[in-house]
Amino acid sequence: MNADSSTRYGTLTRILHWSMAALFAIQFTSAMAHYGFEDSAFEALFWPWHKPLGFVLLVLAALRLAWALAQRTQRPPSVSLAARLGHIALYLLMISIPALALIRQYGSGRSFEPFGLPLMGGFDGAKIDWMVDLGSLLHGELGWLLFVLVCGHALMVLIHRMQGAQHDVWPRMWGKPD
Ligand code: HEM
Ligand code: HEM
Repeated sequence: MNADSSTRYGTLTRILHWSMAALFAIQFTSAMAHYGFEDSAFEALFWPWHKPLGFVLLVLAALRLAWALAQRTQRPPSVSLAARLGHIALYLLMISIPALALIRQYGSGRSFEPFGLPLMGGFDGAKIDWMVDLGSLLHGELGWLLFVLVCGHALMVLIHRMQGAQHDVWPRMWGKPD
């Protein structure tokens, strides 16, 4: 597994970036199925994956954050302050969105066993209102905000690529390392 360098991201960073991008595509598809296609076959196919996949994304995001911090002195420099702040915002959202959902899940008192892993046993009695309310207030909204930011992120990569080789950041994350 080669590490990052000042001109390109290394193997582990790329594996994390692209596998998570693929899983996020499924995650957003399931959110769209829930939002706009209630009681359809589309929702029945995708929505059951939302919670377990969201949990996997949180675990991967935590690993990715730890790896990014370990590599921070040897990564390609940000092309601008906006890019730097954008990447920080992506990390904050990748962690906080599933974390808020898990807090809500716990507060609801219902058990949660992603892929059979007994993460939360659930409890009898009244639910914990602040946990449920916090998740209900923010989880979906921040989820859609992440979707918009990711679209902007991909668009900026394209725009930089069109500005010529000097501005192109695509080879940092894809293709043969130089
Ligand atoms: C990074 C991971 C996640 C993303 C990007 C994400 C995104 C979203 C989005 C955009 C919605 C809004 C859908 C709508 O408007 O109908 C939503 C809803 C929901 N999510 Fe997630 N989610 C993630 C993880 C999780 C996890 C881990 C759980 C539970 C353990 C969860 C449980 C729910 C539930 C119950 C809803 C429906 C209620 C609501 O809109 O808040 N999500 N999610
Ligand atoms: C959910 C989807 C995505 C997320 C959360 C995401 C997140 C990130 C983050 C946080 C970085 C900084 C490096 C790192 O720490 O990994 C990054 C870099 C990068 N991403 Fe994405 N990304 C997503 C999808 C995409 C897509 C669809 C493209 C294709 C256009 C793309 C192309 C790149 C490129 C080329 C870089 C290097 C940019 C630079 O160093 O300035 N990403 N991405």
